[in-house]
Amino acid sequence: MSPDLNAETAPSIRPGEVAVDLPATFDAGLYFIGRIRTPWTKREDCPKNAGESDTVCTIELDERYAAALDKVETCTHLIVLYWMDRARRDLVVQTPRHYGDGRGTFALRSPVRPNPIALSVVKLLKVEGTRLSIQNIDCLDNTPLLDIKPYFASVDSRPDAAVGWHRDRANEAK
Ligand SMILES: C[S@@+](CC[C@H](N)C(=O)[O-])C[C@H]1O[C@@H](n2cnc3c(N)ncnc32)[C@H](O)[C@@H]1O
Repeated sequence: MSPDLNAETAPSIRPGEVAVDLPATFDAGLYFIGRIRTPWTKREDCPKNAGESDTVCTIELDERYAAALDKVETCTHLIVLYWMDRARRDLVVQTPRHYGDGRGTFALRSPVRPNPIALSVVKLLKVEGTRLSIQNIDCLDNTPLLDIKPYFASVDSRPDAAVGWHRDRANEAK
C-alpha cells in the first residue's frame, strides 16, 4: 500500500481486485485551487455519478485566482476537475459493487486510480465573486478543486460514443 494512501478511509480489496506497488516518488506537483462544497460527507450518500444529482453545490475558488474567472459567467456548462482525496490509488483491476466482476481501472470512472483525478461536466447557475453555484457534481464535501474549463459542446460532445462493456451489460439485462 502506498504511503500516501488514506488507509483509514480506503475500502478493503474485494475478490478479483488487483493492487500494484506504486512508484516511490511523484513526477509532478499540483496546486489545489479551491474546494467543492457539497452536502455529502459519506460515500454511501454521494451520487455515483454527476448525472445522478441536480443538487446545487458550490465551488469555492481560492481568492488569488479571482481574475481567472473573467468571462466564466458567460458559460452555461463547465468541465470541473477535482482530486479524489479519500480514494486509494493502487488498484489496477476493480470490482465495483454494482457490477460484480473485475474491470481495468482505465475502463472505469471509479475515484480509485493512480492519479485520483475526477471530472464532471457541471451546469453553471451563478458566479458570485469566487463562489460558483453548480449542479451535476458527485463528490464528498471539501473535495479539492484542480481546474475549471469551459465545456464546448461543439468540441466535447460525442453523441456516438459507447462504452462497450457497459452497453453489453445493459443489453444482457433486457
Ligand atoms: C464514480 S466517481 C465519478 C467521479 C467523476 N464524475 C468522474 O467521472 O471522474 C464518484 C464517486 O466517487 C466517490 N467520491 C466522491 N468524492 C470523493 C473523494 N473526495 N475522495 C474519494 N472518493 C470520492 C463517491 O463514492 C462518488 O459516488
